[in-house]
Amino acid sequence: MTQDELKTLVGQAALHYVVPGEIVGVGTGSTVNKFIDALATMKDRIAGAVSSSDASTQRLRGLGISVFDANEVGDLPVYIDGADEIDGAGCMIKGGGAALTREKIVAAQSRRFVCIVDESKQVQVLGRFPVPVEVIPMASQRLARQFAAMGGIARLRVKDGQPLVTDNGQHILDVAGLAISDPLRFESEVNQWPGVVTVGVFAHQKAAVCLLGTAAGVKTLLF
Ligand code: A5P
Repeated sequence: MTQDELKTLVGQAALHYVVPGEIVGVGTGSTVNKFIDALATMKDRIAGAVSSSDASTQRLRGLGISVFDANEVGDLPVYIDGADEIDGAGCMIKGGGAALTREKIVAAQSRRFVCIVDESKQVQVLGRFPVPVEVIPMASQRLARQFAAMGGIARLRVKDGQPLVTDNGQHILDVAGLAISDPLRFESEVNQWPGVVTVGVFAHQKAAVCLLGTAAGVKTLLF
C-alpha cells in the first residue's frame, strides 16, 4: 500500500470515533484531509466542526460542514489530527504544517485526542523530525541561541524566499538534533521561554488513541 492509501485508511477509520450529534475537533494536514473527506459522508449526523487552520476550515466548508469558532462552543468530545511523530506513550511532534498553535488549542478543548498516522511516523524517541516552534518574530534569534545551548539547530522556516507567516501572524523555528526522552519536561521548559508561542511537542495534550496505518491494516493503540 502507498503512504497515501494508508492515510486514506486511517482517515476513514477515524469516523468510528466521531460522536453523532456533537461537534468534532478537526486538525490539519494531508492525513486529516482524508478524514475530512470521509467526514463529509456523515455530515448530516454531526453538529459541525471546530477547525485548527484556515486550510481545514476551507476544506470543511467546501464539503458543506459547518465550522464553529472555538469560543462559541464548550468542550468537544473528540479531536482528530495527524502528527509528524508519535512515541510509545502517545506523545507527539506536530506542526509540520505550521498549524501547531491552533491544533494545541483545539486539542486542549477536547476530551479525547485521536491521532491518525501511517506507520512511518512511529518512533521510540521524539526528535528525528525537527521540532516546530511558533515564535514571536523579534525573539527568533535569541530563541535559536537557547536551542543551540541544549544541542539543537534551529532554522527559521521559509516559504517563497520569505519567513513563513502562520495563521496567527508569527514565525516558525524548526529545531533539529534533539532527542526528547522526557517530552513533558521539554514542553514545559520551552513553554517558559519568552517569545515562544507554542512548542510542537504535544505531551500535555498527548493522544489517547492512535490509529496507525500499516500494510496489514489499521492498528489501534491506546495510551
Ligand atoms: C500540522 O501543523 C501538523 O501538526 C500535522 O498534523 C502534521 O504535520 C501531520 O501532517 P500530515 O498528515 O500531512 O503528515
